[in-house]
Amino acid sequence: MIKIVTVIGARPQIIKAAALSRAIKNSFADKIAEVIVHTGQHYDNNMSQVFFDELRIPASNYNLQVGSGSHGIQTAKMIEGIEQILVAEKPHALLVYGDTNSTLAGAIAASKLHIPIVHVEAGLRSFNKKMPEEINRILCDHCATLLFSPTVAGYNNLINEGFNKNALPPYSNDNAFIVHCGDVMYDNSLFFEAEANRKSTVLNKINKPYVLVTVHRAENTDDADALNNLFQAIQNLSLAYQVSFVLPLHPRTAHLLPKSLTPELYQSIVDNKLIQIIEPVSFLDMIALESNAKLIVTDSGGVQKEAYFFKKPCIILRQQTEWTELVACGSAILAGANIARIEDAFAYYYSNDISLQFPPIFGDGHAAEFICKTIIEKL
Ligand code: UD1
Ligand code: UDP
Repeated sequence: MIKIVTVIGARPQIIKAAALSRAIKNSFADKIAEVIVHTGQHYDNNMSQVFFDELRIPASNYNLQVGSGSHGIQTAKMIEGIEQILVAEKPHALLVYGDTNSTLAGAIAASKLHIPIVHVEAGLRSFNKKMPEEINRILCDHCATLLFSPTVAGYNNLINEGFNKNALPPYSNDNAFIVHCGDVMYDNSLFFEAEANRKSTVLNKINKPYVLVTVHRAENTDDADALNNLFQAIQNLSLAYQVSFVLPLHPRTAHLLPKSLTPELYQSIVDNKLIQIIEPVSFLDMIALESNAKLIVTDSGGVQKEAYFFKKPCIILRQQTEWTELVACGSAILAGANIARIEDAFAYYYSNDISLQFPPIFGDGHAAEFICKTIIEKL
């Protein structure tokens, strides 16, 4: 039996964990035992517990309750807590997802204890080291032993950084195994789509047609000019096209809106009946919102991919994306926080009857099973 400590903490990681935990439960329960550590990076019910309940994720074995804080304080508290758990649990490996501070903390704690690291969502790069996520993912990749890349671009980034695609066992963080394996988020979207259509009632309170928007990146929320530009663009577009905009708003953004928007813009957003700002929604509700939206506008990594899974055009509110395939195939446009670029992209997708292509580049919906099988074979 291989014992794995999985570290999660932020909303998208909890959602990703659903796919792997499901694969372990259904197909590998006799070979892999998973101990789940929740760092507590996200803690509001609608940022954390709702996903455990709805996606049937086993309850976490530990919750470090680290909460919010500066990068240093938050990450340091996580490292301290994860180290203690690793010492007590003595797992064969630590598994982390993506690029958050919880990912980095897990990687640092495990690497110093010589515990092999499995990194799911390895190799992604925005080539912008001002993003905290870029630092987190590079550091984690470079101390991992098994690196699972969801895209070919991610796999190629690893090769370009010196990883050996022909490495032979035994594997270690000096001789890592890298593989392109598809995306566990795609697994989840396929798995939960029918259930979302059946159970979600979120669309009952949404004015249609609508554009779905999410905003939470530091580069957009913590820069008042960027945040004003984004909301000015939403205000302009809703009025010009007389279309609803639905924003399940991340708490980070919700806290900052009244402080960072100019009083005039804030008031006009509040008064605009076409703009529906709502609390963060559950995953099934999010799938329902995504799959019925006319267009998706987002700075989220996960949401831009889900737009693709549900064959929706996407305006990415960033200067770069690590999901380069989406832009390359024409189904997504990078617009940053630039009003003119957002409006141009919107006009292109909203008004033109263009036929977009969504080639199947995120695997076959069974990335999680492949990851489990590979862990058993290669660890
Ligand atoms: C984090 C990740 C980001 C990921 C995002 C997913 C890092 C550096 N960033 O960003 O990569 O895309 O999660 O959503 O790890 N807050 C609450 N309640 C919560 C959680 C957060 O109110 O349950 C508020 C707090 O004011 C907090 C702020 O959101 O300070 C930011 O939270 P934090 O986890 O530090 O970063 P995210 O922006 O969520
Ligand atoms: N999500 C959700 N409810 C919301 C907003 C997002 O369930 O109100 C889901 C979304 O469907 C995706 C994931 O959260 O699976 C993306 O997380 P987020 O945007 O917070 O982070 P990122 O992917 O940018 O790291």
